[in-house]
Amino acid sequence: MEPILEIQGLSKSFELHNLGKHIRAVSDVDIALNEGEFVGITGKSGSGKSTILKCIYGTYRIQEGCIWYHSKKFGRLNLASASERQMLYLRKHEIGYVSQFLNVMPRTTARQLVTHAILEMNENEKLAEEETEKILSHFELAEELWDSYPTTFSGGEKLRLNIARAMVKKPRLLLLDEPTASLDHDSKLKVKQLIEQLMNEGTTMLGIFHDLEFMNNLCDREYNMQNGVFSM
Ligand SMILES: Nc1ncnc2c1ncn2[C@@H]1O[C@H](COP(=O)(O)OP(=O)(O)OP(=O)(O)O)[C@@H](O)[C@H]1O
Ligand SMILES: [Mg+2]
Repeated sequence: MEPILEIQGLSKSFELHNLGKHIRAVSDVDIALNEGEFVGITGKSGSGKSTILKCIYGTYRIQEGCIWYHSKKFGRLNLASASERQMLYLRKHEIGYVSQFLNVMPRTTARQLVTHAILEMNENEKLAEEETEKILSHFELAEELWDSYPTTFSGGEKLRLNIARAMVKKPRLLLLDEPTASLDHDSKLKVKQLIEQLMNEGTTMLGIFHDLEFMNNLCDREYNMQNGVFSM
């Protein structure tokens, strides 16, 4: 079977012009993900884990390498050279991303944020509203928060909303950047339940977790990063 995601020789550096510095964040990384797999990336802070996910999601342009993604719509596609329009389509319909730090849109309520994510996939409005309430309840976001602006939420509340928004789309490929980092035990279990549910529905996942115990029970395989390269 052909992998759903195949990263070949990925490198990413940053030029800090004002400091005259060159930072090599990721060097010659290869990753292959089969459909339905849950693969983990571990490694110490600053080793380049988030950078890999951002390269896949198109937040960062890469300098070297290929990111082959098997899209339902476009077939085999190198994300490193995909057009802006293709990336926008994929983010709406196929590839989800839970970022390490939530940035919320101002003046959008929690409910609107999640409903909007569902409606992007051309779902009907009534169903979208039902799904929204279901997932907000699952993550035990208090009902009085549903129509409030997330800018005022606590860190954990923002995180749970961020996860809910990405998971409700049931993407084909889901990128998770430390989604449980600042959550309490019960909230972690809620995330785990939904990860397991998505796995059963065939979502492929690439996740970074610093909580190794949490990850070991879920992941099929693990890549360990050390200073931008994998150690096996
Ligand atoms: N936009 C950027 N501009 C400059 N340097 C960056 C940028 N993004 C990442 N880096 C650098 O690349 C390196 C890897 O960062 P990255 O965020 O990928 O690490 P990480 O493994 O996710 O760390 P953590 O576990 O702390 O989240 C770091 O040295 C970081 O400073
Ligand atoms: Mg990171």
